[in-house]
Amino acid sequence: MSVVAGERPRVQVLADTVADQIAAGEVVERPASVVKELVENALDAGASAVRVELEDGGKVLIRVSDDGAGMDREDARLALQRHATSKIRTATDLIGVATFGFRGEALPAIASVSRFELETSGTGEDATRLRVSGGKVEGTDDTARQRGTTVTVRGLFYNTPARRKFLRATATETRAAVEALTVLALTRPDVAFSLSNDGRSLLDCPPATRLIDRVRALWGTELADTLLSVSHRAGPLEITGLVQRPAQARPAGRKGYVFVRGRPIRDPFILRAAEAGYRSTIAPGDRPSLLLFLDLPGDAVDVNVHPAKLEARFRDKFFVEKVVEEGVRAALAPLESAVPLSGTGYQVPAFGGVSIPLELFAAHHSIADTRYPIAPVLQLFDTYIVFQANQAVSIVDQHSAHERVLYEDVMRQLSGDGAPAQRLLLPLTLDFAPAELDAIEAHRELLARVGFEIEPFSGRSIVVHTAPNPHPRFEAARCLQELVADLAGGRFGGWQNRLERFAATYACRAAIKAGQALDVNEMRELVVRLLSATLPAHDVHGRPSMVQLPKEELERRFGRT
Ligand SMILES: Nc1ncnc2c1ncn2[C@@H]1O[C@H](COP(=O)(O)OP(=O)(O)OP(=O)(O)O)[C@@H](O)[C@H]1O
Ligand SMILES: [Mg+2]
Repeated sequence: MSVVAGERPRVQVLADTVADQIAAGEVVERPASVVKELVENALDAGASAVRVELEDGGKVLIRVSDDGAGMDREDARLALQRHATSKIRTATDLIGVATFGFRGEALPAIASVSRFELETSGTGEDATRLRVSGGKVEGTDDTARQRGTTVTVRGLFYNTPARRKFLRATATETRAAVEALTVLALTRPDVAFSLSNDGRSLLDCPPATRLIDRVRALWGTELADTLLSVSHRAGPLEITGLVQRPAQARPAGRKGYVFVRGRPIRDPFILRAAEAGYRSTIAPGDRPSLLLFLDLPGDAVDVNVHPAKLEARFRDKFFVEKVVEEGVRAALAPLESAVPLSGTGYQVPAFGGVSIPLELFAAHHSIADTRYPIAPVLQLFDTYIVFQANQAVSIVDQHSAHERVLYEDVMRQLSGDGAPAQRLLLPLTLDFAPAELDAIEAHRELLARVGFEIEPFSGRSIVVHTAPNPHPRFEAARCLQELVADLAGGRFGGWQNRLERFAATYACRAAIKAGQALDVNEMRELVVRLLSATLPAHDVHGRPSMVQLPKEELERRFGRT
């Protein structure tokens, strides 16, 4: 029966099956959602291995088997009823709920729109088989199986043709199911997962102890080797996980996952906050891979705000975003974020702690920072500086390195007293195009802060009274011309923040160029300043400023190990 608008139907309570089908509309959208719900149940039941089998991308069959706690017969019957759950008893149990499920609606919803079969055993002796079609229980019998549960879902949406029509091509549904399992596999590296479609294995993850091993099993070594660990705490919030080295971020194809209290959550704002942590280390438009696990007390977040539990609501979202950004930044800061020269994924331990007399060259430069046990040795091709530090050979690109150093200096100077400038004995007079004169006018104050004191002269000419002196071979006129051309031409246009954009442009133009011969003291000073920078491993374009060849790798290549 359907109601025609305008007529007055009687109010009635819906039959359970109808209510389940309606609930299914929210919980079960496609085979992937069935996979998600059944695998979550398996994990909640303490499974150590979960197997997913699909036929025709799940359109014909979805089977999820686990070796978890299983159910006795009475529980198995109850589990098929709406609002039947073993996971919470009262509404207050929802605060800090640690299981994936808590609503008691997934199984009845799935069973109402499929031919459903549940086999389960809590003891490994008495096992129960329950068959349900379109929500109606068709039979219960004894069977034999090991401890655990197998749910088989055939003919999804067979009784709701309108919804069946929305199922996509097998390849698309398969991909979605693999993705659903992948996300859950990331939450539990200790559990084994596998998935096959029409007998072909598509995912096979052995149990692992570390997240990085799970990542390797899911996506391969190539991606895993580009990731750095995050571990950061602020107040009640702890952030862990893996983030990609800036130099290896690409505009497309990144992996971006957020987990809150162990649950996968879709949260573009948190991903964006994490990307903000990359600022000044990646080119605008590059998207690093991010796997972020947020842990915070149960009462600081509500996980019951979305029909498929794909969103969470934080009590203090602003705080969470701030800490995520901080955490990512802290992960990128140490030298481990430098790109390893070899593909082995070996990471160099952080500098520091090794005592090496630095008087050797401390006398030659102004920065008496003795934290870093380095002794720059060599310039190659007038462009790269090679030195040994701790257990690696490091190779620095002199332009990128100086750009990073200047960028951080300038960001400080722009918000502080400004840079030391040198008064020019002979003021420079330079000509500019009209658009460039506009750019100079618009950036007059910022230019002054980095050391360029400029006055209009006549027509298209300006006079420069003072200039910065970032290195001995600095050419003030050339730098200013290039800088102004960039500012007028909108280069660095992807940079949101005006100060940062200016600082990056200036740093790029004022830095020592490639192809410039340096003396030993200049090299040492540059390296020491680079190693003292907050984000030493990357320049402002997202290129590495340093690559490292671990000693271990040398030993491997020379057959010493
Ligand atoms: N694989 C399983 N192993 C053991 N028990 C299970 C399994 N799947 C379901 N159950 C039991 O059946 C109950 C109902 O499962 P269902 O998924 O419908 O609800 P839920 O997981 O409690 O909540 P939600 O609807 O939020 O997923 C569970 O609470 C659990 O006790
Ligand atoms: Mg469930």
